[in-house]
Amino acid sequence: MDFDLTRDQQLIREVVRDFAQKEILPRAKEIDRSGQFPLDIIKKLAQMDLMGLPFPEEYGGAGGDYVSYCLALEEITRACASTGLTYEAHISLGCMPIYLFGTPEQKEKYLAPLCRGECLGAFGLTEPNAGSDAGRTQTTAVLQGDEWVINGSKCFITNASYARFVTITAVTDRTKGKKGISAFIVPTDAPGLTIKAGYEKLGMSGSNTTELFFDNVRIPKENLLGQLNQGFKHFLQVLDGGRIAIGAMAVGIAQACLDAALIYAQQRIQFGQSISKFQAISFKLADMATNIEVARNMYLKAAWLRDQGRPCTKEAAMIKVFASEMATRAALDAIQIHGGYGYMKEFPVERHLRDAKLLEIGEGTSEIQRLVIARALGC
Ligand code: CAA
Repeated sequence: MDFDLTRDQQLIREVVRDFAQKEILPRAKEIDRSGQFPLDIIKKLAQMDLMGLPFPEEYGGAGGDYVSYCLALEEITRACASTGLTYEAHISLGCMPIYLFGTPEQKEKYLAPLCRGECLGAFGLTEPNAGSDAGRTQTTAVLQGDEWVINGSKCFITNASYARFVTITAVTDRTKGKKGISAFIVPTDAPGLTIKAGYEKLGMSGSNTTELFFDNVRIPKENLLGQLNQGFKHFLQVLDGGRIAIGAMAVGIAQACLDAALIYAQQRIQFGQSISKFQAISFKLADMATNIEVARNMYLKAAWLRDQGRPCTKEAAMIKVFASEMATRAALDAIQIHGGYGYMKEFPVERHLRDAKLLEIGEGTSEIQRLVIARALGC
């Protein structure tokens, strides 16, 4: 049993923490207010070799592990959740399906530019009528000669406005239900594909969230990703990794809540002393710190299992539901500790609440995570 991070993992955390605190944190408020996508920050992450962090060097990655990536993600999200979500969707959802299921040619053509940070990765599973019930995909792909012809739509897709291609699921055999869904790589400049970024959101304002509309979009036959009719399973496997990463993001937001609440409580004087000296406040802070410690250990363990190639579906669901709900509670407590100021946009904690809520929904709602855990228990 060894709880120590390796030297490389420690180094990644230190370097990313330093960068995030100095260069991302000061921008977070403005990114939230303006809803402006932080493209310049993404370019800097690429210069730091982080956009392909957990992928092999032969594809332009940094050859790191999933633990290192989650540590980096926690630090980025602690500074700015919109930037964290952009990074998470790029690695866990954009790059990962190509890494896991792509042919060597597909990895060379699609994964390498993603790892080099030349464009962002995006992943299209969700549809207007296939959200939690993702196996109800309605988008279709029909093979005509040497081309697949795709029709349908996807919603809530992160990063697609900044992607050169998206990986999506589509029905390839209507008679087989979930077992008749395949995955594809679709260039975003393909005629008939429209990408719309018109959502007005509660939080994660700087993250790019889009709808995709496919109107007779033709892609080459070789753009099938993975095995024919195995696309739903492939995407569920991808989501296991995504859910661990969402856990790391939630820890980042909760840590930001604790950072802000602790400083405020130490500096705020009422009844002749810092409010941090009152048990009502200090116990809230103690509970926040304890929950963060539990969630951090949970995501590290799940990421480590994944790095060992061991099953982690249950652990991924557990960290996702535990950490995301914990982050929302941490944000509510941080607001409470700030009193009236916590309700004001002048302080960061109201933003943390709006950002945290998304983590209970995206990449599988809390209800879906509980369903996955319950099934693993044999319920
Ligand atoms: N890894 C690999 N295979 C898996 C798996 C996993 N984690 N989970 C299930 N499978 C396999 C099953 O074994 C089954 O295989 P067989 O057909 O060989 O038996 C197959 O996949 C289908 O599984 P289920 O019958 O269990 O599927 P289900 O329809 O009951 O759905 C679910 C299961 C857990 C509810 C799933 O639908 C789910 O996770 N829903 C939530 C979807 C979600 O998270 N959406 C967010 C997407 S994010 C997005 O679109 C874009 C973005 O930018 C954020």
